Amino acid sequence: MRRKIVAGNWKMNKELAPGMELVTEIVASNTAQDVLKIIAPPFIHLAAVADKIKGKSDFAVAAQNCHQAENGAFTGEISAGMIASCGANYVIIGHSERRQYFGENAQLLAQKVNTALAQNLTPIFCLGEQIEQRNANTHLETVKQQLKDALFHLPAADFSKLIIAYEPVWAIGTGVTATSHQAQGMHNFIRSEINKKYGKEVSENISILYGGSCNPQNAKELFACMDVDGGLIGGASLKAADFIAIANSF
Ligand code: 13P
Repeated sequence: MRRKIVAGNWKMNKELAPGMELVTEIVASNTAQDVLKIIAPPFIHLAAVADKIKGKSDFAVAAQNCHQAENGAFTGEISAGMIASCGANYVIIGHSERRQYFGENAQLLAQKVNTALAQNLTPIFCLGEQIEQRNANTHLETVKQQLKDALFHLPAADFSKLIIAYEPVWAIGTGVTATSHQAQGMHNFIRSEINKKYGKEVSENISILYGGSCNPQNAKELFACMDVDGGLIGGASLKAADFIAIANSF
């Protein structure tokens, strides 16, 4: 179901005590009830964060990754089932940092999406072009391919459970945000590709978030775009005041 969402991806930041302080402050603040706030801490804090948001229907917890296998001899890895058992209902899959630093390709991401769905986790699936692709005007084609390769094998009933996050790689952690025109253009394109594949109902109901140097100064303009349903926030999600301000930017 399409809804307003602000998700904070902490990446590899925050040890336990400061992480708990951050969540406590966010949960105690006044954020709009109709905006779902998703906190994505490191794996090791999932259960503790889930405990902090217990009983709050406008909050949820996400992992930042999961393994593609259900379980088994994969030393050091974390399964979708383990994530769910800690009280998380979402998992970020396909973040550009996973693609870039951990060599995650479309085939692997498709497996991760399948495994997450099988464990009743909602994938927050990230896609987005590199600066070279934007400059060469191949950004639409790039994103279309990412959608097709990792997601379009899903039946409509599964696809409609997803959240999509458009994160242009050149905007992540750079302080360079996509303009609202660029964001709306890509979000509208993604929705139209989904419409072509799955039809109007699925495409109208899916939430598409923007990520990449989103902050309290630019969130309002981005979220005002017709096809932007919220944000996936990195750096600014590490400061309670900034995350709260972004959540209140609709
Ligand atoms: P920044 O908000 O730090 O640019 O990170 C965006 C991101 O990668 C969220 O997943």
